[in-house]
Amino acid sequence: MNTITIGIRKAEPRDAEAIADVHHEAWRGAYSGIIPHRALTAMIHRRGSSWWASAIRRAATVLVVEIGGKIAGYATIGRNRARELSQQGEIYELYMRPEYQGIGLGSRLFSAARDRLADSGLKGLVVWALEDNAGALSFYEGVGGRDVAEGVEIFDQKALKKVAFVWE
Ligand SMILES: CC(C)(COP(=O)(O)OP(=O)(O)OC[C@H]1O[C@@H](n2cnc3c(N)ncnc32)[C@H](O)[C@@H]1OP(=O)(O)O)[C@@H](O)C(=O)NCCC(=O)NCCS
Repeated sequence: MNTITIGIRKAEPRDAEAIADVHHEAWRGAYSGIIPHRALTAMIHRRGSSWWASAIRRAATVLVVEIGGKIAGYATIGRNRARELSQQGEIYELYMRPEYQGIGLGSRLFSAARDRLADSGLKGLVVWALEDNAGALSFYEGVGGRDVAEGVEIFDQKALKKVAFVWE
């Protein structure tokens, strides 16, 4: 019998290359046709493995979900950056490799991220998602988020609306 193990843990510098690859694939999949091509390509290239290695070494908390020894997704978490929202924690990013989407791993990673934020003493959490990213909006509604605020993000002069979901 083959057993495939699934685990969620803090990223280590040796994961940097795999996370850069997940970032590349997930961002292309989620944002092609939404974020202008040039801006998207620049954002992906900026986040290569050395960028991730230093993000992992610095204070930023990066979590990974590993399935059968392969990094299937990542989340970055920390203090909420939006002063107008009272929640103290934030999931900055949560992305799964396209071939591992839709099988429940994103929900598990979300719960682990939420638990970590609570364990570090941060009350409540916020996540921002682009309004055009319909899959992300359904996902955050599905895991119990309440959409409470809107903002705008500019990519190469294209303004895109974003939505904040919160959990108390
Ligand atoms: C959004 C994302 C993190 C969800 O993770 P996932 O592992 O695919 O989601 P799960 O399998 O845990 O699904 C949980 C629920 O989310 C919803 N959902 C997830 N992806 C969805 C999609 N593409 N379209 C519609 N609903 C979706 C479903 O309601 C699902 O509930 P169900 O199990 O009752 O069907 C993942 O699909 C992803 O990385 N997408 C691309 C990048 C992205 O948009 N990231 C978020 C940026 S803010």
